[in-house]
Amino acid sequence: MLPVKIGKEVYFIGIRDWDRELFDALIPLPNGTSYNSYVIKGKNKTALIDTVDPQKWVVFSNSLKNFKDIDYVISNHAEQDHSGSIGFVLEKYPKAKVVTNSKCRDFLRDHLHIPGDRFMVIKDGEELELGEKTLKFIFTPWVHWPETMCTYLKEDQILFSCDLFGSHLATGNMYSDDKKISEPLKRYFAEIMLPFSANVGANMKKVDEYPLSLIAPGHGPLHRDINHIFELYEDWTENSPKHKVLLMYVSMHKSTEILASKLEQALYMRNIPVEVVNLEKGDLGKLAEELVDSATVVLGVPTVLASPHPKAAYAAYLANMLRPPVKYFGIIGSYGWGGKSLEIISALVSNLKAEVLKPVMVRGLATEKDFKEIEKLADIIKAKHDELKLKKVKTAAAEK
Ligand code: FEO
Repeated sequence: MLPVKIGKEVYFIGIRDWDRELFDALIPLPNGTSYNSYVIKGKNKTALIDTVDPQKWVVFSNSLKNFKDIDYVISNHAEQDHSGSIGFVLEKYPKAKVVTNSKCRDFLRDHLHIPGDRFMVIKDGEELELGEKTLKFIFTPWVHWPETMCTYLKEDQILFSCDLFGSHLATGNMYSDDKKISEPLKRYFAEIMLPFSANVGANMKKVDEYPLSLIAPGHGPLHRDINHIFELYEDWTENSPKHKVLLMYVSMHKSTEILASKLEQALYMRNIPVEVVNLEKGDLGKLAEELVDSATVVLGVPTVLASPHPKAAYAAYLANMLRPPVKYFGIIGSYGWGGKSLEIISALVSNLKAEVLKPVMVRGLATEKDFKEIEKLADIIKAKHDELKLKKVKTAAAEK
């Protein structure tokens, strides 16, 4: 593959992986992903910014043939999708040094067994001269892992942001000159940065101090519309959920589904946007994306073997792990003769700083009396949302 020029002596040599279905054996990738890597040729030295997942080394090494020398391998993040090919690169370029922070060096030694004498450790704000090209290292911890950093190319005003501003997209154009990028970006943010949204917000302010003409992330398209990308991230990191409900449920014999359907209708009639995810076949990425800014989450949970259905428990565990800024949490569901679904689910969401609403748990198939409880639940959600004066969600039409 030929390198693609993205600036004067700056090249994109990333690999698109359209076949990959899961990331971290967890995150569904409906559009595959890409591992973006870049080369900067200074007058004196050449730097490679990040590498690719080791599964793609053969294709990547072919692109590297276009560069006789690599003096520095900049490692912005130790996770293998960016760093997994560093060992191969060091074999190919025996004089190359890995330039990174001390935390990342330690991770690379632990996870990839990169020898200690191959590192050049830099500090926050330190610069590296390549000859008429200057790299500045900006530490941005917890933009996924604690060692994450960005690299800024001063002369060209390009920010190599690694996971920050990334998206799992192996399709479409090299540049995100289209507002449709907001959904893949949000999904990506939700999947790996939501628990650290305060850190991400602080780091955004840090990188915002630099003039930017291009953001070159480690996944997905590159961004020229810097303001749009920053506006999106500001929205997601401000921890201010919107006037909408995420209703996630699983159902074995339709009893819980009937309750979920009744609640969806009741919310709709009260003009409350609601996103429904059937956990039996639903997309966990979509679920994560909705957690970013839903003020209320309702979990529909059937009881099986006296416990919550494992798929409902899994969703509760995932929501708890992502620590979204949810304000209210509701539980609805059906049981046969008893069980501990309520207690178990409540314990699973202990990280959520949400008010738990009165549950609607029904023995067997719902009756008119139960439907009235669902209507009451919808009334409570509406009253709570009105009280907080939550921002309205932008419609898809407004995004275009
Ligand atoms: Fe794209 Fe955290 O790795």
